[in-house]
Amino acid sequence: MKFTIKSTSPEKSETGFLALCLFVDAPLPPASQAVNEACQGKLSEFVSSGELEEKAGSTLLLHGLTGVVAERILLVSLGKSGSFSDKAWRDAFTAVGKAINDTPAKDGMIALEEAALPPGRDMTWALRQAVRTVADCAYKFDAPRKKNESTKRGARKITFVLSSDPNQSQKEAVRHGQAIAEGMALTKNLGNLGANVCTPAKLAETAIALGKQFKFDVDILKRADMEKLGMDALLSVARGSCQEPRFIVMHYRSGRGKSGKTHKNAALRQHPIVLVGKGITFDSGGISLKPGAEMDEMKYDMSGAASVIGAFKAIALMELPIEVIGLIPAAENMPGGNASRPGDVVRSMSGQTIEILNTDAEGRLILCDALTYAERFTPDCVIDIATLTGACVVALGRIPSGLLSTDDALADELTQGGLDSGDRVWRLPLWEEYQELLKSNFADMANIGGRFGGAITGAAFLSRFTGAYKWAHLDIAGTAWLSGNAKGATGRPVPLLGEFLIARARSRKH
Ligand code: BES
Ligand code: MN
Ligand code: ZN
Repeated sequence: MKFTIKSTSPEKSETGFLALCLFVDAPLPPASQAVNEACQGKLSEFVSSGELEEKAGSTLLLHGLTGVVAERILLVSLGKSGSFSDKAWRDAFTAVGKAINDTPAKDGMIALEEAALPPGRDMTWALRQAVRTVADCAYKFDAPRKKNESTKRGARKITFVLSSDPNQSQKEAVRHGQAIAEGMALTKNLGNLGANVCTPAKLAETAIALGKQFKFDVDILKRADMEKLGMDALLSVARGSCQEPRFIVMHYRSGRGKSGKTHKNAALRQHPIVLVGKGITFDSGGISLKPGAEMDEMKYDMSGAASVIGAFKAIALMELPIEVIGLIPAAENMPGGNASRPGDVVRSMSGQTIEILNTDAEGRLILCDALTYAERFTPDCVIDIATLTGACVVALGRIPSGLLSTDDALADELTQGGLDSGDRVWRLPLWEEYQELLKSNFADMANIGGRFGGAITGAAFLSRFTGAYKWAHLDIAGTAWLSGNAKGATGRPVPLLGEFLIARARSRKH
């Protein structure tokens, strides 16, 4: 999909479709009003007659309106003006994205109007979100079937129509929105692959290919390298599987092909943002085997890793002037003959020992060594992203990701990134008291904390490896994929990470 942006009279534009977003109870915003006048008030009739439903995101497709050049008009409800919110706006643009997939039109226009932006939002924000949403709606997993499904429908070229000429930051917002959608698509593709294809080696190859394409450094550590570093917590998980583990290190430095060397301000490069992604390519539970129902969904247990790779694609496409390190511990959790047993004690890279009481709490075992590895970069902050606990899904459902952090300012930034992108998080407490639940008679800590507060005890475990820097943890077990009919990866939390990193680049805070 190709996106452009310009100012033009929508009623006079030749196009496959023209999308107009409007309130059901307020005067039409200017672009809609211009179209309405050109077709002798037909639009306002459809609105006042109730033909266009009230609920934000309701749509009405009109063909061959006299007086209007566009082949089709797509009316989209923003709901009532009094209850207008980010959510209503998002619902409207998701509806636009879906409608575009269903139209035979090859190109189309979407009017964006100052008069129809959610409270406190500007056109730059709106463009970034609209482009991302519409591009993301067009995502389709290319499933390996005997006969390729050809999709003939769906527009290829979308023009956003503004009332005045776009400025620099608005043009940039279009690029940014598209970059984030492309990052999401990569994240979804990796998640949707079966674990026989998406192995630790495949994650590593994907990172290498991305590094080649965008000229950032990628290092891959293999088993022997990890042994030398003392990453025995990570290796203890990998030992139950025939798949060789990988530890992926990606290093992006501001600007394409510059490798950081030409950066004018060396201070900018001293403290990178580190993103750590859980890369369990399949989680059978290990010897603490999971029940069979829906076990296939544990192919998504590398969604944290996939979101880091997707975020790197987005960052590179945006050419953000920041330095970011991506760390991905990648392994498969299987119950092989060499697998860890409940009761085994392993020594992490940090020197702290861990009693493995449940081999299904494997994510924290691979992450803790990655968190220790992160220390060498003297990071500005470290954010780990993991499908860590079923308990997080029980606590929060599938709407927000769980956020746990030892740094309030970082937690606030991530919360804001979530609100700005609609890819929201909800913070859970990480009080000292929870640490007691990890007590072990046989090691520095146990890898599980008992029946209650599982999302928190998981994070409490990780926090013991993060003393050297500011740290936040995103538990995406409930948000990284959808079950049921719409089964598939969601690409979350790439939108959140995108917003967070754009905001960082803007403020050059790190
Ligand atoms: N990958 C799972 C978490 C998970 C469960 C993600 C369901 C998505 C849906 C993780 O490795 C795991 O098994 N966690 C255990 C931890 C427990 C043994 C303390 C869990 O959540 O049950
Ligand atoms: Mn597990
Ligand atoms: Zn897992």
